[in-house]
Amino acid sequence: MAEHPAYPVGLRLTGRHVVVLGGGQVAQRRLPALIAAGADIRLVSPGATPSVEAMADSGEITWERRPYAEGDLADAWYALIATSDTEANNAASAEAERHRVWCVRSDDADRATAWTPATGHSEGVTVAVLTTDARHRDPRHTAAIRDAVVEGLRDGTLVAPHQRTRTPGVALVGGGPGDPDLITVRGRRLLAEADVVIADRLGPRDLLAELPPHVEVIDAAKIPYGRFMAQEAINNALIEHAKQGKAVVRLKGGDPFVFGRGMEEARALAEAGIACTVVPGISSSISVPGAAGIPVTHRGVAHEFTVVSGHVAPDDERSLVDWPSLAKLTGTLVILMGVDKIGRIAETLVAHGRSPDTPVALVQEGTTAAQRRVDATLATVADTVVAQEVRPPAVIVVGEVVAVGPQGTV
Ligand SMILES: C[S@@+](CC[C@H](N)C(=O)[O-])C[C@H]1O[C@@H](n2cnc3c(N)ncnc32)[C@H](O)[C@@H]1O
Repeated sequence: MAEHPAYPVGLRLTGRHVVVLGGGQVAQRRLPALIAAGADIRLVSPGATPSVEAMADSGEITWERRPYAEGDLADAWYALIATSDTEANNAASAEAERHRVWCVRSDDADRATAWTPATGHSEGVTVAVLTTDARHRDPRHTAAIRDAVVEGLRDGTLVAPHQRTRTPGVALVGGGPGDPDLITVRGRRLLAEADVVIADRLGPRDLLAELPPHVEVIDAAKIPYGRFMAQEAINNALIEHAKQGKAVVRLKGGDPFVFGRGMEEARALAEAGIACTVVPGISSSISVPGAAGIPVTHRGVAHEFTVVSGHVAPDDERSLVDWPSLAKLTGTLVILMGVDKIGRIAETLVAHGRSPDTPVALVQEGTTAAQRRVDATLATVADTVVAQEVRPPAVIVVGEVVAVGPQGTV
Protein backbone atom coordinates (compact mmCIF):
# COMPACT_ATOMS: atom_id res chain seq x y z
CA MET A 1 0.00 0.00 0.00
CA ALA A 2 1.40 3.38 -0.97
CA GLU A 3 2.20 5.50 2.06
CA HIS A 4 0.11 8.63 2.34
CA PRO A 5 1.49 11.76 3.87
CA ALA A 6 0.42 12.62 7.41
CA TYR A 7 -2.43 15.10 7.71
CA PRO A 8 -1.25 18.14 9.68
CA VAL A 9 -3.59 19.49 12.31
CA GLY A 10 -3.44 21.68 15.42
CA LEU A 11 -5.00 20.02 18.45
CA ARG A 12 -6.83 22.31 20.86
CA LEU A 13 -6.29 20.45 24.08
CA THR A 14 -7.44 22.94 26.72
CA GLY A 15 -9.01 20.97 29.57
CA ARG A 16 -8.90 17.75 27.53
CA HIS A 17 -7.53 14.56 28.96
CA VAL A 18 -4.12 13.53 27.65
CA VAL A 19 -2.27 10.45 28.83
CA VAL A 20 1.50 10.19 28.86
CA LEU A 21 3.04 6.79 29.43
CA GLY A 22 6.65 6.86 30.62
CA GLY A 23 8.35 9.65 32.56
CA GLY A 24 11.75 9.69 30.84
CA GLN A 25 13.49 12.07 28.48
CA VAL A 26 10.76 11.92 25.81
CA ALA A 27 8.07 12.91 28.30
CA GLN A 28 10.35 15.61 29.67
CA ARG A 29 10.73 17.12 26.19
CA ARG A 30 7.06 16.84 25.17
CA LEU A 31 5.30 17.75 28.41
CA PRO A 32 6.00 21.50 28.41
CA ALA A 33 4.11 22.00 25.13
CA LEU A 34 1.20 19.86 26.35
CA ILE A 35 1.10 21.88 29.57
CA ALA A 36 1.25 25.12 27.57
CA ALA A 37 -1.70 23.86 25.50
CA GLY A 38 -3.73 23.63 28.71
CA ALA A 39 -4.20 19.85 28.52
CA ASP A 40 -5.38 17.87 31.53
CA ILE A 41 -2.37 15.54 31.70
CA ARG A 42 -2.08 12.22 33.48
CA LEU A 43 1.37 10.67 33.56
CA VAL A 44 1.49 6.94 34.17
CA SER A 45 4.99 5.76 34.99
CA PRO A 46 6.80 4.04 37.84
CA GLY A 47 9.60 6.63 37.67
CA ALA A 48 10.29 10.05 36.23
CA THR A 49 13.19 12.39 35.58
CA PRO A 50 13.67 15.15 38.17
CA SER A 51 12.22 17.73 35.72
CA VAL A 52 9.10 15.64 35.11
CA GLU A 53 8.79 15.07 38.85
CA ALA A 54 8.93 18.82 39.37
CA MET A 55 6.01 19.25 36.93
CA ALA A 56 4.01 16.81 39.03
CA ASP A 57 5.04 18.51 42.29
CA SER A 58 3.89 21.87 40.97
CA GLY A 59 0.52 20.45 39.95
CA GLU A 60 1.00 20.90 36.20
CA ILE A 61 0.43 17.19 35.65
CA THR A 62 -1.02 14.34 37.65
CA TRP A 63 1.38 11.46 38.17
CA GLU A 64 0.33 7.87 38.88
CA ARG A 65 3.44 5.99 39.97
CA ARG A 66 2.80 2.63 38.36
CA PRO A 67 3.27 0.85 35.02
CA TYR A 68 0.73 1.09 32.21
CA ALA A 69 -2.46 -0.91 32.73
CA GLU A 70 -5.20 -1.79 30.27
CA GLY A 71 -7.91 0.89 30.43
CA ASP A 72 -5.52 3.82 30.96
CA LEU A 73 -6.34 5.30 27.57
CA ALA A 74 -10.08 4.78 27.70
CA ASP A 75 -11.08 8.40 28.17
CA ALA A 76 -8.05 10.11 26.59
CA TRP A 77 -8.23 12.43 23.60
CA TYR A 78 -4.57 12.01 22.86
CA ALA A 79 -1.76 9.82 24.12
CA LEU A 80 1.99 9.89 24.17
CA ILE A 81 3.46 6.42 24.53
CA ALA A 82 7.06 6.59 25.62
CA THR A 83 7.91 3.84 28.05
CA SER A 84 11.08 1.76 27.79
CA ASP A 85 8.99 -1.43 27.71
CA THR A 86 8.13 -2.37 24.11
CA GLU A 87 5.43 -4.82 25.19
CA ALA A 88 3.69 -2.16 27.23
CA ASN A 89 4.01 0.26 24.33
CA ASN A 90 2.47 -2.28 21.96
CA ALA A 91 -0.40 -3.00 24.35
CA ALA A 92 -1.03 0.71 24.83
CA SER A 93 -0.97 1.29 21.05
CA ALA A 94 -3.51 -1.47 20.58
CA GLU A 95 -5.73 0.06 23.25
CA ALA A 96 -5.42 3.48 21.65
CA GLU A 97 -6.46 2.00 18.32
CA ARG A 98 -9.51 0.36 19.89
CA HIS A 99 -10.60 3.57 21.62
CA ARG A 100 -9.68 5.72 18.60
CA VAL A 101 -7.25 7.79 20.58
CA TRP A 102 -4.58 9.46 18.45
CA CYS A 103 -1.29 8.25 19.79
CA VAL A 104 2.35 9.13 19.36
CA ARG A 105 4.98 6.44 19.88
CA SER A 106 8.50 7.39 20.69
CA ASP A 107 9.91 3.95 19.87
CA ASP A 108 8.10 3.12 16.63
CA ALA A 109 6.84 5.84 14.30
CA ASP A 110 5.32 3.22 11.99
CA ARG A 111 2.94 2.02 14.67
CA ALA A 112 1.97 5.48 15.81
CA THR A 113 -1.27 7.09 14.62
CA ALA A 114 0.15 10.61 15.09
CA TRP A 115 3.55 12.19 14.75
CA THR A 116 4.88 15.10 16.73
CA PRO A 117 6.18 17.81 14.41
CA ALA A 118 9.26 19.86 15.15
CA THR A 119 7.70 23.10 16.37
CA GLY A 120 8.72 26.65 17.10
CA HIS A 121 6.94 29.92 17.67
CA SER A 122 7.53 33.43 16.43
CA GLU A 123 5.47 36.53 15.90
CA GLY A 124 2.13 34.92 16.74
CA VAL A 125 2.54 31.86 14.52
CA THR A 126 3.47 28.29 15.28
CA VAL A 127 5.77 26.66 12.78
CA ALA A 128 5.36 22.87 12.69
CA VAL A 129 7.47 20.70 10.42
CA LEU A 130 6.61 17.07 9.62
CA THR A 131 8.25 14.62 7.26
CA THR A 132 6.09 13.43 4.42
CA ASP A 133 6.30 9.75 5.25
CA ALA A 134 7.82 7.39 7.79
CA ARG A 135 10.64 6.26 5.47
CA HIS A 136 12.06 9.75 5.37
CA ARG A 137 11.71 10.49 9.03
CA ASP A 138 14.81 12.23 10.27
CA PRO A 139 14.15 14.36 13.34
CA ARG A 140 17.36 16.35 12.78
CA HIS A 141 16.21 17.31 9.30
CA THR A 142 12.80 18.55 10.45
CA ALA A 143 14.34 20.33 13.44
CA ALA A 144 16.86 22.06 11.16
CA ILE A 145 14.09 23.26 8.84
CA ARG A 146 12.06 24.44 11.82
CA ASP A 147 15.10 26.32 13.16
CA ALA A 148 15.76 27.96 9.81
CA VAL A 149 12.16 29.16 9.48
CA VAL A 150 11.82 30.36 13.08
CA GLU A 151 15.19 32.09 13.00
CA GLY A 152 14.30 33.77 9.73
CA LEU A 153 11.03 35.05 11.19
CA ARG A 154 12.72 36.22 14.34
CA ASP A 155 15.58 38.07 12.75
CA GLY A 156 13.44 39.43 9.93
CA THR A 157 15.30 37.73 7.08
CA LEU A 158 12.16 35.69 6.32
CA VAL A 159 9.14 37.95 6.00
CA ALA A 160 5.92 37.59 4.07
CA PRO A 161 6.15 40.94 2.20
CA HIS A 162 2.50 41.97 2.56
CA GLN A 163 2.46 41.04 6.24
CA ARG A 164 5.57 42.89 7.20
CA THR A 165 4.83 44.17 10.70
CA ARG A 166 6.66 47.34 11.49
CA THR A 167 7.37 48.61 14.93
CA PRO A 168 6.26 52.23 14.89
CA GLY A 169 8.49 55.07 16.02
CA VAL A 170 12.05 54.59 17.15
CA ALA A 171 13.75 51.49 18.50
CA LEU A 172 16.73 52.10 20.78
CA VAL A 173 18.65 48.92 20.12
CA GLY A 174 21.59 47.70 22.17
CA GLY A 175 23.91 46.25 19.57
CA GLY A 176 26.28 44.45 21.93
CA PRO A 177 30.04 44.91 22.15
CA GLY A 178 31.02 44.57 18.50
CA ASP A 179 30.75 40.97 17.31
CA PRO A 180 27.68 41.01 15.02
CA ASP A 181 26.51 37.71 16.53
CA LEU A 182 26.13 39.36 19.91
CA ILE A 183 23.07 41.47 19.15
CA THR A 184 19.74 40.11 20.41
CA VAL A 185 17.32 38.38 18.07
CA ARG A 186 14.85 41.22 18.60
CA GLY A 187 17.47 43.82 17.78
CA ARG A 188 18.36 42.02 14.57
CA ARG A 189 14.72 41.80 13.54
CA LEU A 190 14.16 45.51 14.15
CA LEU A 191 17.26 46.28 12.11
CA ALA A 192 15.87 44.18 9.27
CA GLU A 193 12.63 46.23 9.39
CA ALA A 194 14.32 49.63 9.55
CA ASP A 195 14.17 52.40 6.97
CA VAL A 196 16.73 54.51 8.80
CA VAL A 197 19.53 53.39 11.13
CA ILE A 198 21.40 55.93 13.22
CA ALA A 199 24.50 54.16 14.48
CA ASP A 200 27.30 54.87 16.91
CA ARG A 201 30.95 54.31 16.19
CA LEU A 202 31.02 51.48 18.73
CA GLY A 203 28.87 48.42 18.33
CA PRO A 204 28.33 45.87 15.62
CA ARG A 205 29.31 47.85 12.52
CA ASP A 206 29.37 44.67 10.43
CA LEU A 207 25.60 44.44 10.75
CA LEU A 208 25.25 47.69 8.85
CA ALA A 209 26.94 46.15 5.83
CA GLU A 210 24.17 43.55 5.67
CA LEU A 211 21.38 46.10 5.39
CA PRO A 212 19.59 46.38 2.04
CA PRO A 213 20.54 49.40 -0.13
CA HIS A 214 17.29 51.31 0.51
CA VAL A 215 18.09 51.62 4.23
CA GLU A 216 19.56 55.00 5.11
CA VAL A 217 22.49 54.55 7.50
CA ILE A 218 23.50 57.65 9.42
CA ASP A 219 26.70 57.89 11.45
CA ALA A 220 25.63 59.56 14.70
CA ALA A 221 29.07 61.15 15.10
CA LYS A 222 28.66 62.94 11.77
CA ILE A 223 25.27 64.55 12.35
CA PRO A 224 25.99 68.30 12.09
CA TYR A 225 24.97 70.00 15.31
CA GLY A 226 25.48 73.67 14.65
CA ARG A 227 23.95 75.55 17.55
CA PHE A 228 22.79 72.35 19.29
CA MET A 229 24.67 69.93 21.51
CA ALA A 230 25.66 66.78 19.62
CA GLN A 231 23.18 64.72 21.66
CA GLU A 232 20.39 67.18 20.94
CA ALA A 233 21.14 66.95 17.23
CA ILE A 234 20.90 63.15 17.41
CA ASN A 235 17.59 63.40 19.28
CA ASN A 236 16.29 65.79 16.61
CA ALA A 237 17.37 63.46 13.82
CA LEU A 238 15.53 60.57 15.49
CA ILE A 239 12.40 62.68 15.88
CA GLU A 240 12.47 64.08 12.33
CA HIS A 241 12.84 60.69 10.66
CA ALA A 242 10.18 59.12 12.86
CA LYS A 243 7.79 61.98 12.06
CA GLN A 244 8.20 61.16 8.38
CA GLY A 245 6.66 57.77 9.19
CA LYS A 246 9.93 55.88 8.86
CA ALA A 247 10.93 52.92 11.00
CA VAL A 248 13.98 54.24 12.81
CA VAL A 249 16.58 52.19 14.67
CA ARG A 250 19.02 53.90 16.96
CA LEU A 251 21.79 51.32 17.09
CA LYS A 252 23.98 51.73 20.12
CA GLY A 253 27.04 49.90 21.38
CA GLY A 254 26.54 47.49 24.29
CA ASP A 255 23.38 48.19 26.27
CA PRO A 256 21.54 51.47 25.66
CA PHE A 257 21.35 52.28 29.37
CA VAL A 258 24.98 51.61 30.35
CA PHE A 259 26.78 54.89 29.71
CA GLY A 260 24.76 55.01 26.53
CA ARG A 261 22.54 58.05 26.99
CA GLY A 262 19.61 55.81 26.16
CA MET A 263 17.24 57.46 28.56
CA GLU A 264 18.05 60.94 27.24
CA GLU A 265 16.93 59.78 23.82
CA ALA A 266 13.88 57.95 25.20
CA ARG A 267 12.84 61.13 27.03
CA ALA A 268 13.28 63.33 23.97
CA LEU A 269 11.11 60.93 21.98
CA ALA A 270 8.46 60.85 24.71
CA GLU A 271 8.37 64.65 24.75
CA ALA A 272 7.88 64.64 20.98
CA GLY A 273 5.06 62.09 21.34
CA ILE A 274 6.96 59.40 19.43
CA ALA A 275 6.71 55.73 20.37
CA CYS A 276 9.96 54.27 21.60
CA THR A 277 10.94 50.63 22.03
CA VAL A 278 14.03 49.81 24.03
CA VAL A 279 15.90 46.61 23.23
CA PRO A 280 18.54 45.66 25.80
CA GLY A 281 21.99 44.74 24.61
CA ILE A 282 24.96 42.79 25.89
CA SER A 283 27.08 45.34 27.69
CA SER A 284 30.80 45.46 27.05
CA SER A 285 31.28 45.78 30.82
CA ILE A 286 30.67 42.05 31.29
CA SER A 287 31.08 40.58 27.81
CA VAL A 288 34.43 42.11 26.90
CA PRO A 289 36.21 40.81 30.02
CA GLY A 290 34.49 37.47 29.40
CA ALA A 291 35.69 37.37 25.81
CA ALA A 292 39.24 37.85 27.09
CA GLY A 293 38.88 35.00 29.60
CA ILE A 294 38.10 37.13 32.65
CA PRO A 295 34.99 36.35 34.70
CA VAL A 296 33.78 39.47 36.53
CA THR A 297 32.91 37.28 39.51
CA HIS A 298 34.42 33.99 40.60
CA ARG A 299 33.51 31.82 43.56
CA GLY A 300 35.91 32.41 46.41
CA VAL A 301 37.54 35.37 44.64
CA ALA A 302 35.05 38.16 44.00
CA HIS A 303 31.51 38.53 45.27
CA GLU A 304 30.88 41.86 43.63
CA PHE A 305 31.72 43.82 40.55
CA THR A 306 31.34 47.52 40.10
CA VAL A 307 31.08 49.17 36.71
CA VAL A 308 32.38 52.69 36.66
CA SER A 309 33.07 55.35 34.09
CA GLY A 310 36.64 56.61 33.98
CA HIS A 311 36.01 59.40 31.50
CA VAL A 312 36.87 62.08 34.05
CA ALA A 313 39.82 61.86 36.44
CA PRO A 314 39.17 61.13 40.14
CA ASP A 315 40.14 64.67 41.20
CA ASP A 316 38.00 66.30 38.51
CA GLU A 317 35.15 68.23 40.11
CA ARG A 318 32.71 66.77 37.53
CA SER A 319 33.42 63.23 38.76
CA LEU A 320 30.45 61.53 40.43
CA VAL A 321 32.52 58.50 41.45
CA ASP A 322 33.61 57.93 45.05
CA TRP A 323 37.05 56.50 44.20
CA PRO A 324 38.30 56.36 47.84
CA SER A 325 35.35 54.10 48.71
CA LEU A 326 35.91 51.98 45.61
CA ALA A 327 39.53 51.53 46.69
CA LYS A 328 38.29 49.85 49.88
CA LEU A 329 36.24 47.23 48.03
CA THR A 330 37.84 43.84 47.53
CA GLY A 331 35.87 42.80 44.46
CA THR A 332 36.17 43.56 40.77
CA LEU A 333 36.25 47.04 39.32
CA VAL A 334 35.29 47.34 35.66
CA ILE A 335 36.26 50.68 34.19
CA LEU A 336 34.80 51.92 30.91
CA MET A 337 36.13 54.93 29.01
CA GLY A 338 39.16 54.91 31.29
CA VAL A 339 42.22 54.47 29.06
CA ASP A 340 43.25 58.14 29.13
CA LYS A 341 42.83 58.52 32.89
CA ILE A 342 43.96 55.09 34.10
CA GLY A 343 47.22 56.46 35.57
CA ARG A 344 45.39 58.87 37.88
CA ILE A 345 42.73 56.27 38.66
CA ALA A 346 45.34 53.65 39.65
CA GLU A 347 47.18 56.18 41.82
CA THR A 348 43.96 57.09 43.63
CA LEU A 349 43.00 53.45 44.22
CA VAL A 350 46.45 52.70 45.68
CA ALA A 351 46.48 55.89 47.75
CA HIS A 352 43.21 54.80 49.38
CA GLY A 353 44.18 51.26 50.19
CA ARG A 354 44.06 48.96 47.17
CA SER A 355 47.27 46.97 46.83
CA PRO A 356 49.64 48.17 44.09
CA ASP A 357 50.04 44.49 43.12
CA THR A 358 46.35 44.18 42.25
CA PRO A 359 46.15 42.64 38.77
CA VAL A 360 44.76 44.80 35.96
CA ALA A 361 43.77 43.79 32.43
CA LEU A 362 42.98 46.10 29.55
CA VAL A 363 40.88 44.55 26.82
CA GLN A 364 40.85 46.60 23.66
CA GLU A 365 38.21 46.17 20.92
CA GLY A 366 36.78 43.14 22.69
CA THR A 367 34.80 40.54 20.73
CA THR A 368 36.06 41.90 17.40
CA ALA A 369 38.80 40.50 15.15
CA ALA A 370 41.13 43.15 16.58
CA GLN A 371 40.64 42.15 20.22
CA ARG A 372 43.76 42.35 22.36
CA ARG A 373 44.42 41.95 26.06
CA VAL A 374 47.22 43.66 27.93
CA ASP A 375 47.99 42.74 31.54
CA ALA A 376 49.52 44.92 34.24
CA THR A 377 49.11 45.77 37.93
CA LEU A 378 47.86 48.95 39.57
CA ALA A 379 51.52 49.91 40.05
CA THR A 380 52.48 49.38 36.39
CA VAL A 381 49.32 50.10 34.41
CA ALA A 382 50.07 53.75 33.58
CA ASP A 383 53.40 52.86 31.98
CA THR A 384 52.02 49.72 30.35
CA VAL A 385 49.24 51.64 28.60
CA VAL A 386 51.82 53.94 27.04
CA ALA A 387 54.39 51.25 26.25
CA GLN A 388 51.81 48.91 24.72
CA GLU A 389 49.92 51.73 23.00
CA VAL A 390 46.55 50.68 24.37
CA ARG A 391 43.79 52.69 22.68
CA PRO A 392 40.08 53.13 23.30
CA PRO A 393 37.72 51.43 23.19
CA ALA A 394 38.95 49.30 26.03
CA VAL A 395 37.46 47.80 29.14
CA ILE A 396 39.79 47.85 32.14
CA VAL A 397 39.38 45.19 34.79
CA VAL A 398 40.94 45.65 38.22
CA GLY A 399 40.95 42.79 40.71
CA GLU A 400 41.99 39.25 41.46
CA VAL A 401 39.57 37.85 38.84
CA VAL A 402 42.07 38.94 36.21
CA ALA A 403 44.24 35.99 37.28
CA VAL A 404 41.34 33.53 37.16
CA GLY A 405 40.90 31.66 33.91
CA PRO A 406 41.23 28.22 32.42
CA GLN A 407 44.95 28.29 33.27
CA GLY A 408 44.60 30.93 36.00
CA THR A 409 46.62 31.06 39.15
CA VAL A 410 43.79 31.98 41.51
C1 LIG B 1 30.10 55.27 25.88
S1 LIG B 1 30.55 53.75 26.59
C2 LIG B 1 29.22 52.76 26.04
C3 LIG B 1 29.09 51.46 26.75
C4 LIG B 1 28.03 50.57 26.16
N1 LIG B 1 26.74 51.16 26.27
C5 LIG B 1 28.02 49.19 26.78
O1 LIG B 1 27.05 48.82 27.48
O2 LIG B 1 28.96 48.43 26.54
C6 LIG B 1 31.89 53.29 25.59
C7 LIG B 1 32.93 52.46 26.33
O3 LIG B 1 32.52 51.11 26.39
C8 LIG B 1 33.66 50.28 26.34
N2 LIG B 1 33.52 49.43 25.16
C9 LIG B 1 32.47 49.33 24.36
N3 LIG B 1 32.66 48.36 23.41
C10 LIG B 1 33.88 47.88 23.64
C11 LIG B 1 34.66 46.86 23.02
N4 LIG B 1 34.21 46.15 21.99
N5 LIG B 1 35.88 46.59 23.53
C12 LIG B 1 36.36 47.27 24.58
N6 LIG B 1 35.66 48.23 25.20
C13 LIG B 1 34.44 48.53 24.75
C14 LIG B 1 34.87 51.17 26.26
O4 LIG B 1 35.31 51.40 27.57
C15 LIG B 1 34.26 52.41 25.64
O5 LIG B 1 35.06 53.52 25.91
